[in-house]
Amino acid sequence: MIIRKFAALAAGAAALTLTAGSAVAEDTVEVLHWWTSGGEASALNVLKEDLEKKGVTWQDMPVAGGGGSEAMTALRARVTAGNAPTAVQMLGFDIIDWASEGAVANLNDVAEEEGWADVVPAALQNFSKYDGNWIASPVNVHSTNWVWINKAALDAAGGKAPETWEELIAVLDKMKENGITPLAHGGQPWQDATVFEAVVLSLGNDFYKAALNDLDPEALGSDKMKEAFDRMTKLRSYVDDNFSGRDWNLASAMVIEGQGGMQMMGDWAKGEFLKAGKKPGEDFVCIRFPGTQGSVTFNSDQFVMFKVGEDKQAAQKMMASAVMNPEFQSAFNVVKGSVPARTDVSDEAFDDCGKKGMKDLAEANEAGALFGSMAHGHGAPAAVKNAINDVVTQHFNGELSSEEAVEELVNAVEAAQ
Ligand code: GAL
Repeated sequence: MIIRKFAALAAGAAALTLTAGSAVAEDTVEVLHWWTSGGEASALNVLKEDLEKKGVTWQDMPVAGGGGSEAMTALRARVTAGNAPTAVQMLGFDIIDWASEGAVANLNDVAEEEGWADVVPAALQNFSKYDGNWIASPVNVHSTNWVWINKAALDAAGGKAPETWEELIAVLDKMKENGITPLAHGGQPWQDATVFEAVVLSLGNDFYKAALNDLDPEALGSDKMKEAFDRMTKLRSYVDDNFSGRDWNLASAMVIEGQGGMQMMGDWAKGEFLKAGKKPGEDFVCIRFPGTQGSVTFNSDQFVMFKVGEDKQAAQKMMASAVMNPEFQSAFNVVKGSVPARTDVSDEAFDDCGKKGMKDLAEANEAGALFGSMAHGHGAPAAVKNAINDVVTQHFNGELSSEEAVEELVNAVEAAQ
């Protein structure tokens, strides 16, 4: 069925190509993305090779910068110049923003023919559809409330993975005594915010939802929020002097090499460990951020097709379809560190962290404990996200006390809406 579909799409693409008489341009997709680290690039290659096998030529438009802010700035410039890329990696509310501007293509044909509605969870469909129409194909589900620990460093610190805040602090203290950087971290707003949202989640599901999804001023301005900032101050005491501006994958490398004890980061970090030949359970340990077991903050990378002319539509649909292919979703996500965006993909090919990721996601979804990641575009639109990131970063860098940060947070969120 899926093979027949590709054949039909390929024939469509070929027909369009013949009409316009330019073989290369029309079966080409120009893809804007921010997958430039070692692990990310390996995963991207799985997609690129898959498409090339199907006769679609890949034109790469990488824009480095974890979390994708730089990519989104580049996208805005391209669209403003009247030169939108064919396909764009995008997160959550950004997808909805672009759809509301009328800039994106409709994928209903391919979605209906392939039954996407039956296999894509509702939490993702909220960002793959706009006004009842499919406008994005989700390639994965990442989650952000993970900690990646160097196994030898954990063994030297007593060997028990921390399950509570107190246990986490005890392990970090021990790692400090042992002469390594306990917390490998890159001081960039989105990375600070990734840690912050895990800390907020560790103070309760209802608190996370109220503060970072519902933007409830009471939760944002609460004593609990002050506690979240106090915990950030504590975590700040475990990073090294050179943390400022460090890319996330270099922080992963510190843990991989054992100079760093642990990194608090989404599961794209696993892609770096795998790329370095490291094995879960042997070389590194993956745990949920202590106190957030059973809950998941998620983000999903989706591909959005821009309105770029009829001659490109067949290739766009082939790409959307390829992204949703179940075998591809397994092969890609095994490398990326994420889990499939479809509910019907087996966990067989996944390592233990991947299996845990799939199980945690399904269970959190069942239990009403699955929440959009604020730091990664699934909590609120970009203006709010950026406002929160700014406050979190200023506080992390010691420019605001916890009391001031709480006050600033309430004001910044209000102003950004
Ligand atoms: C996330 C994205 C991931 C990963 C990460 C770091 O926002 O969803 O795919 O690439 O940024 O770049």
